[in-house]
Amino acid sequence: SKLKMFVDELPDMPKILGFDVVFGFPKPKSLKIGMFKTEWKFHRDLPATPVFAYGTSKATATVPGPTIVALHGVDTYVRWKNHLPKKHILPWDPTIPTAIPINMKGIPTVVHLHGGIHEPESDGNAESWFTAGFKQRGPKWTKKTYRYPNRQHPGNLWYHDHAKGLTRVNLLAGLIGAYIIRHPDVEAPLGLPHGDEFDRPLVVFDRGFSDDGSIYMNATGNNPSIHPQWQPEYFGDAIIVNGKAWPRMTVRRRKYRFRIINASNARFFRFFFTNGLGFIHVGSDSAYLGESAITNKVLLGPSEISDVVVDFSKSMTDTVILANDAPYPYPSGDPVNELNSKVLKFVIQRYQEFDTWQVPKKLIQYPSPDLSSVSLTRYIAMYEYTSDVDEPTHLYLNGKPYEAPVTETPKVGATEVWNVINLTEDNHPLHIHLGLFVTLDQTELVNLEEFKSCMTEINDAVKCQVSKYAVGNKTEVPAHEKGWKNVFKMRPGVVTRILVRFSYIHSNASYAFDATSEPGYVYHCHILDHEDNVMMRPLKFYT
Ligand code: C2O
Ligand code: CU
Repeated sequence: SKLKMFVDELPDMPKILGFDVVFGFPKPKSLKIGMFKTEWKFHRDLPATPVFAYGTSKATATVPGPTIVALHGVDTYVRWKNHLPKKHILPWDPTIPTAIPINMKGIPTVVHLHGGIHEPESDGNAESWFTAGFKQRGPKWTKKTYRYPNRQHPGNLWYHDHAKGLTRVNLLAGLIGAYIIRHPDVEAPLGLPHGDEFDRPLVVFDRGFSDDGSIYMNATGNNPSIHPQWQPEYFGDAIIVNGKAWPRMTVRRRKYRFRIINASNARFFRFFFTNGLGFIHVGSDSAYLGESAITNKVLLGPSEISDVVVDFSKSMTDTVILANDAPYPYPSGDPVNELNSKVLKFVIQRYQEFDTWQVPKKLIQYPSPDLSSVSLTRYIAMYEYTSDVDEPTHLYLNGKPYEAPVTETPKVGATEVWNVINLTEDNHPLHIHLGLFVTLDQTELVNLEEFKSCMTEINDAVKCQVSKYAVGNKTEVPAHEKGWKNVFKMRPGVVTRILVRFSYIHSNASYAFDATSEPGYVYHCHILDHEDNVMMRPLKFYT
């Protein structure tokens, strides 16, 4: 069946404040947010879809879940409550390392606040999962109520499931939501568009549906004798924004702010406006940019976030489509088609409005990357392994499974340079928990095959003389990606150098927690199908 595009209005997810106000003073707040099996209407003409959704009750659960609005400097506590049944709505694969309790009584889940600077006990470690009523718990489970201190700079985060080996299916089922940290003292002077009407999160992902409305996911993997279900990348043809397939939004002829989160498993989006309208970037991932930047296109890998202002008063037309032209898998997969090339239609009111909002050149200044404080250089290689039928069987970082003993053990507060060497043919969005990083440069590898065969044999970039091979073309980091990020797109055949800081640089208040405690953090590729099998490694701090 063919769904008509642009018939549903773009929804706004319910907002939950992560703080109380008592006699005019903000106070910490404790929230209870559940995960429920429920149904969600993704499109006017599509039957309701069974989903897993976050919400304060089953009746109010949504896909994506409620947007949590936190206040800088004020703790938000969340008790994440699993109310999911025993049976998953999607096929999963027990042959990849997966959170499967013996005598499984419920679906394992654990929530990670992506981009959050917080203690390891509240980080949602893949092995800290739990089932309904906390009846069964993973080996690294520590506590029921998570603490988010919100001491970092204002910006855009999101929360999503992180259960070992089930992340891709739990997110596909709907376990995602936006989280905003506001800091009015530093944000208000910027004069950006604000208020619920003009400042909108856009959570974008792709899904496939069966005619009965259920989420379509191949029940059989590409390589079933090895992995009965796992596939290297999930793609769906319907593009969903804030829970509706190809929605429409009526806007006034003035400026809007959009916080765009790519919540897809594997799809990259290269967004552009069909009438040439531009994007004025103010933030990237969880941080503001030092300076605003203008582009005509925005390429977002899975879990990347772009915070942009769009000025509809500049539009030459009365309607415009936010479109996508990123091949999938990115960069060398299929070109987009009639369906997945369209995202969202804006209907712009005729009447020209004047707003006093502006986008200053100078935004929020973070400490700049300081190469002289670098204490260690690491090499992180990305590998894909294939079977004799030339289908991927799994992917690893540094040739190691997640279970192998920890190798990345930074000192608390350290600054390090990571050379990320992508030996695969895909672009992998690398995400590091706790750390924020700046991309220094991207250099193509020459004689890649020779270097690769050395690397596959001895898995040591220094011994394989990476410096001899990393001498190809250099790519400039685009201005809108020059800030402190928590995800960066690692291009194939390229060494990307990032400067990572594992400290609370984004904090104004003095605030500390023990980053060395269990269960530690992780870093991983944010293509969820890769992360699950198993492009993820532990990250353990010491003092
Ligand atoms: Cu967005 Cu480890 O996750
Ligand atoms: Cu990947």
